Amino acid sequence: MIAGNRPINYLRISITDRCNFRCLYCIPASPFKVIGHDQIARYEEIIRITQLACEMGITKVRITGGEPFARKGIFSFLASLCDIKGLEDISITTNGSLLNTEKMEHLIQLGIKRLNFSLDTLTPEIFKTITRKNDFQKVWDTIMIAHHLGIAPLKINTVILKGINDHEIENLAALTLKYPFHIRFIEYMPMGDLPVKEDQQILTGEIMGRIESGFGKLLACESVEHDGPAKKYKIKGAKGIIGFITPISSHFCAQCNRLRLTARGTLRPCLLNDYENDIITPLRNNATDEELKKIIQDSVTRKPSCHHLADPASMHLPLSHMTSIGG
Ligand code: 5AD
Ligand code: SF4
Repeated sequence: MIAGNRPINYLRISITDRCNFRCLYCIPASPFKVIGHDQIARYEEIIRITQLACEMGITKVRITGGEPFARKGIFSFLASLCDIKGLEDISITTNGSLLNTEKMEHLIQLGIKRLNFSLDTLTPEIFKTITRKNDFQKVWDTIMIAHHLGIAPLKINTVILKGINDHEIENLAALTLKYPFHIRFIEYMPMGDLPVKEDQQILTGEIMGRIESGFGKLLACESVEHDGPAKKYKIKGAKGIIGFITPISSHFCAQCNRLRLTARGTLRPCLLNDYENDIITPLRNNATDEELKKIIQDSVTRKPSCHHLADPASMHLPLSHMTSIGG
């Protein structure tokens, strides 16, 4: 499938909007409703949509949430996903708090070895401020288990917020000296009604400057497959990689190869634009494979050429928040 001149081969699937954390940059300040159980796409429905999408050229899938391991039955779902023909790569984004050695071994048995953890701090107190859960140690232990069991590349997503965890930029970057992790600094995206103010946003240039003051000039790394939009660097002599994801300071729309399936069963062509295409209703009303494929194709065709998040006067700011789209 092609959108403009962008080949679309990557489907991000949010299997739940629920999460056991309440991250400041993800969960809106005002009360919000989680999706009702009957409105959540069932696993067999997600599998059918994914199968069709793979027949149309999707080769990579990432499972996201909310927190994917908060949904019951995820392991049998993952096993069915692994059986889909043409699907070459499955990865998962998780907060790590609901995993343990046994579950991690199960993932590895299924052949899933690419995990992204969300971790914004190495200080338990600050972890509690950001996630509103006192689970730093649990998450860190999970990351260590994953590392020792051979999960690679092990990626850590970090959102830096001024006045909250910006003094930890250097410590987070220093993890790459000791471990072969990819630490990815993601610019805060002001989506929906979030409790984080826009002036708490720190752009990549400043984060890079801070790292270079501490560790010397960063060395640019070549991108390889699966890197996605991260620009990659290394501290000289480091084992791991530092990545920067810059949705605000330098958008990567022209290279965007993704389509998203939300937890309520809509196809979303762009993370940062609220247009969604309902595929679950036709599916539940007995649509044929060909009819469903038309909806998938239509969603790809509707990918906007570019988002408007850096433009304060924009009329296109998304009202949705990450838990329902999956990041
Ligand atoms: N801005 C930037 N990144 C975000 N994430 C969640 N909400 C935001 C936001 N508003 C990231 C987290 C998590 C991933 C699923 O999405 O870092 O790792
Ligand atoms: Fe949960 Fe991830 Fe959102 Fe934090 S960022 S509340 S861990 S879904």
